[in-house]
Amino acid sequence: MVCVTAIITIFTITCVSALSAFSINRGVANTSKTGLAWPNGDSVDLGQYRTTGKVSWYYTWSPFSIDTDLEFVAMLWGQKSVDQFSSTINDTIAKRGVKAILGMNEPQEPGQSNLTAEQGAEMWKAYLEPLRSQGIRLGSPAPSSAPSGKIWLQDFLVACAGACTVDFIALHYYDVNATQFKEYLTDYHQTFQRPLWVTEWACQNFNDLQAQCSKDDVVLFLNETQIFMDNSDFVERYAWFGAMRDMSGVNQADALMDSGGKINALGKQYIGSEPPQTSGGGNADGPMAPGGRDGGVSISSSSSKWIGFRATNAILLFFAFLLI
Ligand SMILES: *[C@@H]1O[C@H](CO)[C@@H](O)[C@H](O)[C@H]1NC(C)=O
Ligand SMILES: *[C@@H]1O[C@H](CO)[C@@H](O)[C@H](O)[C@H]1NC(C)=O
Ligand SMILES: *[C@@H]1O[C@H](CO)[C@@H](O)[C@H](O)[C@H]1NC(C)=O
Ligand SMILES: *[C@@H]1O[C@H](CO)[C@@H](O)[C@H](O)[C@H]1NC(C)=O
Ligand SMILES: *[C@@H]1O[C@H](CO)[C@@H](O)[C@H](O)[C@H]1NC(C)=O
Repeated sequence: MVCVTAIITIFTITCVSALSAFSINRGVANTSKTGLAWPNGDSVDLGQYRTTGKVSWYYTWSPFSIDTDLEFVAMLWGQKSVDQFSSTINDTIAKRGVKAILGMNEPQEPGQSNLTAEQGAEMWKAYLEPLRSQGIRLGSPAPSSAPSGKIWLQDFLVACAGACTVDFIALHYYDVNATQFKEYLTDYHQTFQRPLWVTEWACQNFNDLQAQCSKDDVVLFLNETQIFMDNSDFVERYAWFGAMRDMSGVNQADALMDSGGKINALGKQYIGSEPPQTSGGGNADGPMAPGGRDGGVSISSSSSKWIGFRATNAILLFFAFLLI
């Protein structure tokens, strides 16, 4: 924790001086929904994801952009990033042409931003709501897909008592069945009556770590869920987890690049430069139940809490890269 604060403090100084050196760099408008959840800073070539023009935006789980003209979406991650967010966001809005900002990351997860609905409402009113006067659209705190997520969001809206303008609902989804993914999104849309942004999703089983998607399962799950969202009138944007070399404990078959940072076949599928490619197996609705297994991979874990550190690790990696 101390270390995190120290890194962030150093980075804020670095960032502010670095930002003033950038030329005015406005985001490019695009109606494509496809985005990059990007923890890589400048250490990986983002340009390789732009060759088709399908990728239209990115975010970094933070208020800090990288040096690209792709549309940047800032995020207020949680309590520990409030200071850097509030001290830099107006400059970033002006310099990057920011049009949308995301609320807190997995607020109901103790290992993530760990906020009560009341704390979330206070944070929103203090740091996010005022930005609407600059024409910014605001996305809800993004709950994880544990059942507690939807309840947290409902409690949050109650705690706001009408004082939080949530333009769209952001959410995360980790599971293995594309049909259930569509049902989940439809339920969120019906419940909250707002457009959706899926800011993290992957073919990943957190309920049974031994029953993970095979490479073929991932290819078919991504294909089906992405096409569904491209065709949905209530999904505005999405970002797969993930555009990263090391998936920090999430099924490595979900990675959009290889360990050297080069876009792989799944990455090319995501940006639409290559069709889905399987080796003949797989199921968009996930690894088959025991007895009918299709070769899904298993991930062993020495800690039941490993996932709680996932995005936190991603953020630390991001800050670390910027400092190098
Ligand atoms: C916007 O997205 C479309 C559809 O993917 C693409 O063809 C086009 O080149 C993109 N435009 C820009 C300016 O990136
Ligand atoms: C989450 O917040 C509660 C207080 O609301 C605190 O007691 C707990 O230690 C926090 N958990 C973590 C993992 O930081
Ligand atoms: C940023 O702009 C908002 C209005 O959009 C304002 O309330 C806030 O005080 C500004 N922050 C700083 C640090 O100037
Ligand atoms: C990709 O998904 C679409 C829409 O569900 C489906 O029609 C198509 O057959 C899928 N492609 C593959 C290779 O499964
Ligand atoms: C996927 O989810 C659907 C809808 O809940 C269900 O009918 C189907 O059996 C599931 N598929 C698998 C392989 O579990």
